[in-house]
Amino acid sequence: MRRGSVLALVGIGVVAGGIAAAVAVLLPWLPTPASREAGRIDFVFWFVIGICIFIFSIVVAALLYSIVRFRAAPGDDSDGKPIHGHTGLEIAWTIVPTVLVTAIGIASAIVLAQNDAQGKDVLHVDVTAQQFAWTFSYPDEGGVTSSVLRLPKGRSVLLSLHSKDVIHAFWVPDFSQKQDIVPGLTTTLHITPTRLGTFPVVCTELCGLGHALMRSEAIVMDPGAFDAWVKGQAQATTSANPATAGKAVFQDNGCGSCHTLTAAGASGTVGPNLDKLATYAAQFHQAPASFALTQITHPDTFRQPGYPQNVMPRTFGSSLSKQQLDALVQFLVSSSKKG
Ligand code: CUA
Repeated sequence: MRRGSVLALVGIGVVAGGIAAAVAVLLPWLPTPASREAGRIDFVFWFVIGICIFIFSIVVAALLYSIVRFRAAPGDDSDGKPIHGHTGLEIAWTIVPTVLVTAIGIASAIVLAQNDAQGKDVLHVDVTAQQFAWTFSYPDEGGVTSSVLRLPKGRSVLLSLHSKDVIHAFWVPDFSQKQDIVPGLTTTLHITPTRLGTFPVVCTELCGLGHALMRSEAIVMDPGAFDAWVKGQAQATTSANPATAGKAVFQDNGCGSCHTLTAAGASGTVGPNLDKLATYAAQFHQAPASFALTQITHPDTFRQPGYPQNVMPRTFGSSLSKQQLDALVQFLVSSSKKG
């Protein structure tokens, strides 16, 4: 090949590679990593993208050069000269991909092994997924339960994920990891949060009508603030005051992600506004307490127009104890505004 052709090829390759690299680096494709595992996954991602940009620029350079240099003259209908193989080229395009794919495989295997390795003092969190709500409980902390995933910064966390009904999947984009949640199986996911903040928890497996609404939050806190929260939760659940206990049941079971209730600081709009519980009960000629209990244990018994059916979990009648149900009903009735 002539010296000018080689220079043209290199020039085109550098331009193509530069454009691809700019698109890759200048646009914010990925969230800023919020866990140690996410940082490692991002490294593998960019390692692979870098290799792709390199190969892409070689291919584009050869393609563009060939289109210009070897285009047929007007009126030239003759066939090109037959070519029979090129041993040097074939060896090159076998060895180079082998080396690159092996390198990607080794980098991925190292990152997977590092991400699964738990640190000392692991915090265990049981994650329960059901149509269409998340529950997080902390067996090491006396079984404290929450509808929001609270995590201490810098501590190794092991999630054990269970489903009560169908297949769901756990995803926090800022943690870069996804894990399926399969009925009858316990799957696990290891996370070491590194950044304070509130991040979305998303169900990423189509699981029914309310799939798009099956969301929560992961709140990464200072370890001290996390310990204080655990202590406060433990007190609220064992509180003798039924209204306080009812509020804890409301918050622990994710009611606020779908319902508005001023007394609980909840502003969900998927289901009926519970500030109007007394009004709704009156519409159906029911006493507020029995109306509330029926709707919690057998949702959609009294159909409220304008709200989707079959979205409220049907498990509260069996998953909540009688005391919890009583406390919750009492809390709802006492907090709903009259009129
Ligand atoms: Cu649960 Cu989608």
